[in-house]
Amino acid sequence: MLTNLIDKELSRLKNAGLYRNLRLIERKQEPRVNIDGKDVILLCSNNYLGLANHPKIKEAAILAIEKYGFGSGASRLVSGNMEPHNELEQRLARFKGTEAALVFNSGYHANIGIITALAGRGDLIFSDKLNHASIVDACILSRAEVKRYPHGDVNALEGLLKKNSELRTPNSKLIITDGIFSMDGDIAPLKELSELADRYGCMLMVDDAHATGVLGSNGKGTLEHFGIDNPNPVLRHNGTSIIQMGTLGKALGCFGAYAAGSKKLIDYLINKARSFIYTTSLPPSVCAASIAAIDIIENEPQLRQNLWDRVKFFRDGLKNAGLDIMNSETQIIPVLIGKADKAVQISKNLLDKGIFVQAIRPPTVPDNTSRLRITLMANHSWDDLEYALETIKETVANFA
Ligand SMILES: Cc1ncc(COP(=O)(O)O)c(C=O)c1O
Repeated sequence: MLTNLIDKELSRLKNAGLYRNLRLIERKQEPRVNIDGKDVILLCSNNYLGLANHPKIKEAAILAIEKYGFGSGASRLVSGNMEPHNELEQRLARFKGTEAALVFNSGYHANIGIITALAGRGDLIFSDKLNHASIVDACILSRAEVKRYPHGDVNALEGLLKKNSELRTPNSKLIITDGIFSMDGDIAPLKELSELADRYGCMLMVDDAHATGVLGSNGKGTLEHFGIDNPNPVLRHNGTSIIQMGTLGKALGCFGAYAAGSKKLIDYLINKARSFIYTTSLPPSVCAASIAAIDIIENEPQLRQNLWDRVKFFRDGLKNAGLDIMNSETQIIPVLIGKADKAVQISKNLLDKGIFVQAIRPPTVPDNTSRLRITLMANHSWDDLEYALETIKETVANFA
């Protein structure tokens, strides 16, 4: 019975062009990687600043392993709270300019923990329709009532906020948005969202998974990009400042995630976020690596400039060739294809030509919006980018 069900679903996925399989990267995470023994240009990693193989980060991890061993042995609240965990949180709070920060084991854990701690039965969540899957899952898990507003549409959101403030008084209201949208590469209208949150008495949470280390003149993320003041220790939005979440596994080249905000918020999350409480803490060496990554991000702004120079070159090149890059403004550049099987064919063809870019299909993106999701890195060589740009233009045109 069970195998029948599994077989049926797997063949449905295959027939619809939605079947997924794992590709093996045979060497380090660099702008070029090895797949099936072949050297290819990597255009689908979130290692935006090229830090995953940075010597200072590796050295920090190795030193921490020598000092602390590898595993932490328990959750933070039992006996797994070690010096690097606390140091990383202090370092993150300083970097983000918040009173405090809390480390989670991944971005997925962070969204599940933060959202389910802030909203529950009887509460209302307003969530952008294109928010990341971990936010969608967290909203379901919270048991709050979820109102999804059309992507980036502040007028539609205001309509929902108005309607719901007239109809009833929920215990609490939370607006949630990605900072940089993970599959579209556009940036949330955070200033307007923040004003709406103030006006309608909502908490506001931003997921800076893709913005941390990238957006803002110091790489602090979406708030810095928009010049939004998130003053400390002034408390806003029902007693918390804007809740910022971000990841350490993308531009920082490490692993894990954080929540950053007021001391009160962090204290609350330590007590209420189940994905923080009920899980073994990160290995201390992983925390030490992230501290080294923040140092690099603060001290080497040129890395960010290198990334943005490449983004401009690639985005302009695709756009001028008439490809639909949606509303991308960042290092995440989709090329809209439409049908899932066509996107997969193009991706396979590109791999044959030495370019690794994944086809992103439903359910990750809405039906008929399958796309190539191109992501750039600060250390891609110009020669590789020129070759990739020309080859992508030509290949997509061949499949038109
Ligand atoms: C917007 C967003 N939030 C959260 C996550 C989850 O982060 P992590 O990979 O650290 O679990 C991701 C990516 O995977 C993401 O794109």
